[in-house]
Amino acid sequence: WVAPTLAIVIGYVLGSIPFGIILTRLGGAGDLRQIGSGNIGATNVLRTGRKGLAAATLLLDLLKGSAAVLLVQALFPGEGVLAAVGAFIGHCYPVWLRFRGGKGVATLMGVVLALHWPSGLVYAAVWLGLLAVLRISAVAGMAAAVSAPVSAALFGRFDLVLVLLAFALIVVWKHGDNIERLLAGTEPRVGRSRADEA
Ligand code: G3P
Repeated sequence: WVAPTLAIVIGYVLGSIPFGIILTRLGGAGDLRQIGSGNIGATNVLRTGRKGLAAATLLLDLLKGSAAVLLVQALFPGEGVLAAVGAFIGHCYPVWLRFRGGKGVATLMGVVLALHWPSGLVYAAVWLGLLAVLRISAVAGMAAAVSAPVSAALFGRFDLVLVLLAFALIVVWKHGDNIERLLAGTEPRVGRSRADEA
């Protein structure tokens, strides 16, 4: 039981590092919790107007997921999935933030890339493709998360389907506020607004 426990703990510790909050504070851009949606992810960092900080948050939130899986797989072969569980839960429910963490989209992409890179590439394509077309981060992120168990099944990685389905459900659950805003037609778009285009 030592290796599985350490896999989850290492994953959790890495996943729970709130890069959005850290980078926004270090960059002098304020308290991310008081900005926009109050979320700790890259989309909300972008609302500070600091594109570099948002890009760094996206990259680091993604890399911590990949790093957790790859590090644990190197230390304890076969325990990558437990590291993924730890990292994803760590990001979404970090003890340091009284369990009020992020929505999991970037960290899940890092985890999926490390567990099964073809599904990770599909995830990236769905996310970036929908973001480019719709410019609604929440829709792109939820669709990408849902694509992961579907991709794993289509690629024949049935061992990953259930855990990726659970991750996708948590991502959608975490977007409850966004879903309410989408239904009300008030979810903000990323980048150029319609007013700018007119
Ligand atoms: O990954 C989070 C994104 O999908 C939504 O973020 O700040 O618009 O709630 P936000």
